[in-house]
Amino acid sequence: MQGITLIGFMGAGKTTVGKLLSKSTGMNHIDFDDKIVEEIGMTIQEYFDLYGEDAFREKETTVLKKYIDHGFVISTGGGIVMRPENRELLKQMKPVVYLETAPEVFIPRLKNDHTTVRPLVVSKSPEEIKQVFEPRISFYKESASMIVSTDQRTPEEITEEILTRLKQR
Ligand code: S3P
Repeated sequence: MQGITLIGFMGAGKTTVGKLLSKSTGMNHIDFDDKIVEEIGMTIQEYFDLYGEDAFREKETTVLKKYIDHGFVISTGGGIVMRPENRELLKQMKPVVYLETAPEVFIPRLKNDHTTVRPLVVSKSPEEIKQVFEPRISFYKESASMIVSTDQRTPEEITEEILTRLKQR
């Protein structure tokens, strides 16, 4: 069964839009970061500190394989596209929607979000955050079957555009 998978950088709105899509479609919503935190029994920051980024990426592959093709609205973590294996899995998961967001939009958002600690951006300068983002752009684009620009738009407008474009297919 087909679901909808959202990819994009941290602060792009994957969780917020995922919840709205779930409400509109009636499909259940899954947030991969939450699933991983449930499984590892600690925060992502603690896991990074103890086991490193590669081990976290392996957990992402495990959840991706578990929830592929089960008809969920999925909000992935921003780094899911880093592993070639994950990009291959994403290509099988149509529709995969890339929420395309400019650094000028996500950087202030990340700085103002005190609800979660993101190890790859915490205590980094805007320039350093851009350096995390830039090598990923081509990975997001190659993994997506739809690209939706989110800048200057509300989560509701983004959700509407995704649903309209999916109906046109
Ligand atoms: C990460 C993004 C985070 C989380 C982890 C690593 C990344 O998820 O998975 O901190 O490498 O981009 P969000 O995109 O939901 O913030």
